Amino acid sequence: MIKIGKVFFRYLEFEVPEGIYEPREDSFLAGNYLWGVDLEGKKILDVGTGTGFLGIICNEKGGKVHATDINPKAIKTSIENADRNNLEIDAFESDLFQKVHEKYDIILFNAPYLPGKRDNSNMEEKSWVGGEKGNETLINFLEKADKHLKKSGFILLVFSSISGIKEIFDKINGKNMEYHVIKEEKVDWEKLLLVKCYKF
Ligand SMILES: C[S@@+](CC[C@H](N)C(=O)[O-])C[C@H]1O[C@@H](n2cnc3c(N)ncnc32)[C@H](O)[C@@H]1O
Repeated sequence: MIKIGKVFFRYLEFEVPEGIYEPREDSFLAGNYLWGVDLEGKKILDVGTGTGFLGIICNEKGGKVHATDINPKAIKTSIENADRNNLEIDAFESDLFQKVHEKYDIILFNAPYLPGKRDNSNMEEKSWVGGEKGNETLINFLEKADKHLKKSGFILLVFSSISGIKEIFDKINGKNMEYHVIKEEKVDWEKLLLVKCYKF
């Protein structure tokens, strides 16, 4: 694989091959939050793992991590990055929950959130584009996520103020979950939101 760069988070190191989402502000927003949470022994699912960034941080903090991505190259990358840091994640290819059969204490999704038409043959674009309004991938995720969440668990989401947020919040409420905006961060013309969802 062609390596295009390296990203560091604290002392963890991530190789970023061509076509895989390079961890940036949105990834760091979730990563910094997770770094401060007690994850010891927690069972965690990192949906859309990319370089493995969030899942690997969670394993370093004591979590037992399953990681998925729709892009097979991301799966290979995430496993290699875990090895690089002497950590372990169980990564497998899945379109959202298609191949997920278990329940988790924590489910993470730093979702693709840019508005645009999705081209199913373009894996790189899937890192960014979340459907016409920017929220379709996340809405589809929320349709099933609660079924994979243990009763006392939580879902941690990252998305942008430009991704049709009213529909996202309505969907969370429609699934009998409540949400809490943990942090907002202004980046250029948009605001990134870090949102935690719980079952009632
Ligand atoms: C914004 S990137 C986040 C990557 C990484 N979690 C991070 O925080 O740096 C979104 C990731 O979701 C993946 N993705 C997009 N659609 C997906 C789907 N339907 N099922 C699973 N993963 C998907 C993309 O391939 C990409 O790796």
